[in-house]
Amino acid sequence: MKLRKKIIAGNWKMNKTISDAQELAASIKLELAECREVDVVLCPSFTALKTVSDTISDSSIKLGAQNMHWEPDGAYTGEISASMLRDLYCHYVILGHSERRTYFGETDAIVSHKVKAALAANLLPIVCVGESLEEREAGRTEEVIQTQVENSLTGLAAELKRVIVAYEPIWAIGTGRTATPEMAQDVHAFIRRVLTGLSDAETAETVRIQYGGSMKPANAAELLAKPDIDGGLIGGAALDARSFVEIVRHGM
Ligand code: 13P
Repeated sequence: MKLRKKIIAGNWKMNKTISDAQELAASIKLELAECREVDVVLCPSFTALKTVSDTISDSSIKLGAQNMHWEPDGAYTGEISASMLRDLYCHYVILGHSERRTYFGETDAIVSHKVKAALAANLLPIVCVGESLEEREAGRTEEVIQTQVENSLTGLAAELKRVIVAYEPIWAIGTGRTATPEMAQDVHAFIRRVLTGLSDAETAETVRIQYGGSMKPANAAELLAKPDIDGGLIGGAALDARSFVEIVRHGM
C-alpha cells in the first residue's frame, strides 16, 4: 500500500451560484462517484455547501469549505464555525489560503487558531503556504515557507498526521505560470523536513502535501509523479468538470 494516498481538491473560490455549483458537482460525480484511488474533495463557496453536500452524499467524493472562524460560536458577525461546517457534512476546510492572507489580513497566528479548532471539530485542515515572486527572487523561499509552516502548525504533536499542507507559490496562482515539477518537488521535500522538525520523521512521512498554482490537465501528471507531491489544490481548472476529472485521473 502507498504510504500517502493522493488528494485532489477543487477550490472553487468565489465562483458559482447554487445551481451552477450543483451542476458542476453532479458532472464530477458522474465520473468519479466510485473513485477510491484518490481522495477527491470539492470546496464550493459557503452558499453552495448544502447543495453540493446533498449532490455528492451517495458518492466517495468529500466536501470541504474554504475558510472558517476559530471560535465555536458567539458574536462574530459574518463568520462560520467548525461545527456549522460539520453540520453540512464537510470533512475538510482550506485554511490560510494566500488570498485570505493577502486580502483579509490572516496571519500565521490566526491560521494556527483555526487549525486547532478544525482538528478539535474533526475537520481535516488543508493549510496553505507559499512565497511571493519578490520573496522567491530574493532567495527567501525556504525562510518564508519555514516560518509559515512552523507558525501555522505549532503545538499539534501527533495531530499533525491529520493535517494536509498545500504548497501554493503565490506567483503561480491564477497566472498560468506553474512551478516546474522540480521546483515544486524541492519545496515539498523542504516542507517535509520542516514537518520532521515539528514532530518526527515517521509523522512527517504520513502528511500529505498538495501542490497548487495553475495546475491543469497538461501539467498535472508530471507534478503528481514527484515523490513528495501528494496531490493538488486546483483553482481555475476545478471550475470545469472535464479538466478537474482529468487531473484526478492523473493522480490515480
Ligand atoms: P489556480 O489553479 O487558479 O492557479 O488556483 C490555485 C489555488 O489558489 C487553489 O487554492
